Order: sequence, then C-alpha cells, then structure tokens
Amino acid sequence: MSAQVQKSSSVDMSVYRDDFAILSEKMNNKPLVYLDSASSAQKPECVVRKFEEIYNNKYANIHRGLYQFSQVITEEYESVRGKVKNLLNAPSNKEIIFTRNTTEAINLVAHSWGLNNLQAGDEIIISGIEHHANIVPWQLLAQKIGIKIKIIPVLDDGTIDLGEFVALLSPKTRFIGIIHASNALGTINPVEKMVKATKNFDENIKILVDGSQSVVHGTVDVQAIGCDFFCFTGHKLYGPNGVGVLWGKYAILNEMKPYQGGGDMIETVSFEKDGTTFKPAPARFEAGTPAIAEVIALGTAIDYVTEIGMENIANHEQKLLKILMEELKTIDGLTFYGTAEDKVGVVSFTADWAHPSDIAMILDQCGVAVRTGHHCCMPLMERFKIDATVRVSLGLYSNENDIKTLVESLKKAKEMLV
Ligand code: ALA
Repeated sequence: MSAQVQKSSSVDMSVYRDDFAILSEKMNNKPLVYLDSASSAQKPECVVRKFEEIYNNKYANIHRGLYQFSQVITEEYESVRGKVKNLLNAPSNKEIIFTRNTTEAINLVAHSWGLNNLQAGDEIIISGIEHHANIVPWQLLAQKIGIKIKIIPVLDDGTIDLGEFVALLSPKTRFIGIIHASNALGTINPVEKMVKATKNFDENIKILVDGSQSVVHGTVDVQAIGCDFFCFTGHKLYGPNGVGVLWGKYAILNEMKPYQGGGDMIETVSFEKDGTTFKPAPARFEAGTPAIAEVIALGTAIDYVTEIGMENIANHEQKLLKILMEELKTIDGLTFYGTAEDKVGVVSFTADWAHPSDIAMILDQCGVAVRTGHHCCMPLMERFKIDATVRVSLGLYSNENDIKTLVESLKKAKEMLV
C-alpha cells in the first residue's frame, strides 16, 4: 500500500455522500462535519438496509439447520470469506477467520500461536507507533511465559526507524507485529520492505500486520506484503461493529490450537481422553454462534467500497489530505505529528494556545467531530512528550466543505481560547 496517488482520478466522489444519511444530521444545531472516520466510519445505506433485510426476511442461525432459511443464510455468511479474500488478495477463503474486531484477531494470534510456539527468552518485535491492541496482548503473553518484547523506535517525522528495526533482529526473534498505517499519525509503514528484511534474516520469523487503517484507505495485497497474518476491523471499513477479520497462511492456521472452545468448532466431543477433536481452520477459530448479520453486512460494505474502487477512495483522500494540511498551516501555533510523505488521511496536531480537549469541546459546539486524546497509543504520545493530540481523519465521504468548516471552527476556537 502506498499513499502515492496511483492514477489521476476523474471519479466524482461527492455522489457517494448521499449514501450516508447521518451526514445530513445536525450536531449541536450545526450541520454535522464528521472527521473521525479513523475511530469509526459512518455506514452507507446499503449496509444499514442489509440488517433490515436479514432480520425481517431471512434470519436463522448458520451451520446448524437443514431447513432452507438456515442453509441460505449459511451460504451468504460463507460467501463473505470470498469477498474478504478478494479484498486482501489472499490465496484462499479457508484463510479468512471472522473475529469480533482487530483486537480479538491479535489476541487470537497471541494465544493460539504465541502461547504454543513461544517460550521464555524468545524475542518478539513491535514498534513504538503501535495501537494498544498490538501491545497489550503481547505484554500479557510476556507476563505469562517470559518472552522479551523489543520496540522499534519512532523518528521525529512519525516514521519508524528501519535501521534500528534491522538491528533488533536476532537469532532469538520469533515474531514481529507491526501496524500498517498509524491510527494516530497516519504514517504508512513500509511493511513489504520489513517483511523482506525479516524473511531474509530468518524465514521462520512470523509477521503480523495490523491493517485496521490501511485496508480502509487503499488497496492491500497480503501476498505482495508477504506477511503471515493480517487483520482488520469491519466498523472502520464502513461496515458494522462487532466483526473483524484475521487472515493467516493456511499451513500456519491449521497448526494452531483453538483459542476459544465451544459449539461449531469441533468435529467430535467426548469425555474420553483426547476424545474431543476440532474442525480445520477457519471453523476451529469461530466458536459459538458468530455475528451472523454483521459478517454479512461487512460483505455488503466490501462490495460497496470495491464498487467505488479502493484506488479512487485513496486518490480522493490524498487530494483532501493535501488541502487539509495547506489550510491547517494557515493557523498559527499548531505543531503537527506524523509529517512523513507516505501517509493516509489522518492528521494529528497540538496547539500552543490550548489543550486538545478544550479545542475539541469548541469544535463540538461548531458541529465538528474529531478525536482528541492518546488514540490508544500512549507509548507514542510519551515518545513525543505529549498527552494528547487533536486528530482529524478523512473518509470516502469527506469533502472540501468539511475542511473549510473545520478550519473556520479552529480559528474561532483560537479566538475564544487565547
Ligand atoms: N482505534 C480507533 C481510533 O484510532 C478507536 O480512534
């Protein structure tokens, strides 16, 4: 994935804005300006309608009924694996596991793969730019089995130090977990390059890429990246909450022990010793009744963005990002974090005239939704010696008017707070 505009886009993205009913709502009596898509994206009408269709016309449990409704909905649920496979250019539907979100996908890898393949003294590498979702599961594992976590440092421009990364690789390295695009700064990490360097060093080191922010802002190809695991969440991809995806290479997945036990993931259950056996992947990782409607509606969201074209979405956001940066630079006293060339539509800043929370409160009164705080990246905030930023994040429906209102509102906030 690269943020470089790949081809000139003549697509008029404004036509898609009407698909998002919420964007016509008011917040504090002002037209809603939604600039918090990195936190969670709004949902197009087709996704919302899908829930109605499922619950009004075709709902049943999956994998469990011989009656028509159950069979039809099972097929629809299973067909979403193919949509995810195409989105990620994964080799096989069997490699797509539905989870609750990215966090659960990483916890699955930490427990299912990590707990059974790592031991005291083994090293894993993550970076200083990671979301807590790719930090805390590894810390919990370290507490349990004594692995060592090494951290790739972050440079002043919000990129990770690739020289240091290579220096951290050692004969004890077993695993690397890296975020593809930073939710806090927007930086796109050169994961292909990192995977290549790692596999050249030792092809047995496993690499997980957290694609929560990359999959929504451009095209992703897990085979080109060469990683072993890739995960993302549905709600940032214009889909529902409560559903995420873990992709993994089949040979690795099928060697992994189940993370959670229950119905639908077993072949047989017996009270005899070792009498309980498990289905192959992906079923062995989907214990219990899953989020059926959510998975199917994620498929609808994938159809939606695929039809628009991920390249068109990326081009649109890159053009807006450029305008956003130019406009924000007209406001005195802002410091930007994450100034690398290669980044997605996320801009983080502080002001020397007010705390991010005070700024956000005034933006809220102006109808502008942004996120402030540590963005679930406390070590990254510590690296920059700040406790919070104001974060503006773009989606496919964002437009120049959103940026204009944001900048006017920031100027108003400055007048009020200085
Ligand atoms: N990870 C989400 C964010 O960046 C919640 O805001």
